[in-house]
Amino acid sequence: MKAVVVLAFGDVDSARFEEVVDPRPGVGQILVDAKAVDVNFPDILYIEGRYQDRPELPFSPGLGATGRVAEVGAGVEAFSPGQRVLVLPRYGAYAEKVLVAANECFPLPADVPFDIGAALGLVYQTAFFALIDRGKLAAGDVVLVLGASGGVGMAAIQLARAMGARSVIAATRGSDGADFVRKVGADVVVDSSAENLRTRFRAAVLEQSSGHGADVVIDPVGGDVSAAALRVTAWCGRFVVVGFASGDIPKIGANYLLVKNIAATGLQWTDYRDRAPERAHRAQEEIFALWSTGKLRPEITERLPLAEYAAALRKIRGGQAKGKTILLTQHGAN
Ligand SMILES: NC(=O)c1ccc[n+]([C@@H]2O[C@H](COP(=O)([O-])OP(=O)(O)OC[C@H]3O[C@@H](n4cnc5c(N)ncnc54)[C@H](OP(=O)(O)O)[C@@H]3O)[C@@H](O)[C@H]2O)c1
Repeated sequence: MKAVVVLAFGDVDSARFEEVVDPRPGVGQILVDAKAVDVNFPDILYIEGRYQDRPELPFSPGLGATGRVAEVGAGVEAFSPGQRVLVLPRYGAYAEKVLVAANECFPLPADVPFDIGAALGLVYQTAFFALIDRGKLAAGDVVLVLGASGGVGMAAIQLARAMGARSVIAATRGSDGADFVRKVGADVVVDSSAENLRTRFRAAVLEQSSGHGADVVIDPVGGDVSAAALRVTAWCGRFVVVGFASGDIPKIGANYLLVKNIAATGLQWTDYRDRAPERAHRAQEEIFALWSTGKLRPEITERLPLAEYAAALRKIRGGQAKGKTILLTQHGAN
């Protein structure tokens, strides 16, 4: 099979797309013929060796894919060859054949196309647990989503609406982002690239929420916009740290937490997959069910051959990608 292989940590162009030996499933493992591979921001960090999880070299990056089960190892009873699946492994999904542990494998319903299924994996699970488990989202809440045109942002907008938020305010940089986040379901948009961010951002969010502020903030960005968002978190609000796409890990102002009884919390989705796999499975079922009823509509803005993974990652690193990018293998998307 062919796979993207990292031989030494370096920039995204330093990995190779090359022929490697087909893996075989061991005890409790499943081998999947991948069709659609999900591209995610952390893939860059894996290739550069800057992710908290640093695989042994050589390895293939990639956190999600869909396809059909090719072979199961001893002890695997829940999956069988030919079955349609979504896989969310620690890494290794940038490959024509992906080897996963059974808890990293999720049934893909017959009505969900492979490319859509790949897009509905990691970022929707992340947004799901960020909103519901960490953010304690309740019907009628005002939700503020930062980095709203990115993968996690898009998923958070759509899930917040599906879960009964009163209003979803999307913070995005510039007019391209604004058009995109409206298209994927934001009620209102605030510009997070404006001058005097702290003042203007506060005014915009308060105006859009009739002075209430945000009950739940989903923050995959960090940096200045994160600090501005903390200032507009409502009384008893929940501020959920999801990631640092800006490259800047924010310092949370404890004075804001105290004054407005705000809870600041973090979300690491892989911990749910590894420590509470049954919850991750239930969440994925719910996500697919919401898609089937038309409540979730992941926007795949680019579909590229797997060999062009580096171009996809460069665009993400430049902050230019919107929604989801999906890589297709030679097995095709159907
Ligand atoms: N904790 C977890 O379990 C978990 C899971 C998945 C992802 N993450 C993390 O969450 C973050 C976002 O992931 P993602 O999949 O949504 O990534 P993405 O698709 O690349 O989106 C990131 C978004 O952040 C915004 N942004 C603001 N400033 C930026 C800057 N200086 N450079 C790049 N982007 C900037 C952009 O949206 P606007 O233009 O709309 O502002 C961009 O689209 C990443 O840090 C990722 O590692 C965490």
